[in-house]
Amino acid sequence: MRLDKFICRCTDLSRSDAKKYLKRGAVLVNGETIKDAAHQVYEESDVSLAGNKLSFASARYIMLHKPLDCICSNVDEGYPSILHLVDVPRAFDLHIAGRLDADTSGLVLITDDGQWSHKITSPKKNCHKRYRVQLSRPLREDATELFKQGVQLQNEANLTRPAVLEVLSAQEVLLTISEGKYHQVKRMFAAIGNRVVGLHREQIGDIILDDELQLGQWRFLTDIEINSIA
Ligand code: URA
Repeated sequence: MRLDKFICRCTDLSRSDAKKYLKRGAVLVNGETIKDAAHQVYEESDVSLAGNKLSFASARYIMLHKPLDCICSNVDEGYPSILHLVDVPRAFDLHIAGRLDADTSGLVLITDDGQWSHKITSPKKNCHKRYRVQLSRPLREDATELFKQGVQLQNEANLTRPAVLEVLSAQEVLLTISEGKYHQVKRMFAAIGNRVVGLHREQIGDIILDDELQLGQWRFLTDIEINSIA
């Protein structure tokens, strides 16, 4: 990676500040002063800035309890981005591994590791997501069977993949799906003549939303949680 980018990854400096340090001759790479921002460095390169050794910022993995009325996007569009809630340096360099709608709450995973998030979002990886769903009217009796077989969503070529429905009461269920089509849960219930009035994601793969996190709070994932995404 470019040296100026490496400095930004390891510090809170902007690209232009990193370049100022480079120009001043304050950056050493493997003991040699380097002024060229485009100089290539590697994770194992020995880089120091103004006498301080920089270590490559390792990837970050975060769970957030998403509240309503904020969006899973890196830009604010009508509602503020959830990344405003994550008070870490360079929060907007992170991305969201599986979005929730503005009116959905619950577990959101946030990272800067693209390979890891791909394992969550790629349909080929079959990563399960569990939602708690509140419905506008009592569930029809054959709903569990219909979701097991797959239902036809509007404007989709194929039926939904087999999904598991656990009925908690006539108007509250847990639904586990392994795809992430646009508005999937809402469209699945619309396909069987119902309407979602409350939606909350509780689980992604083996990662369960930490019940100590209040709405809007976040924490770093443990190594066990990170490695559970395979
Ligand atoms: N399905 C939806 O319809 N909305 C979400 O936010 C997540 C899944």
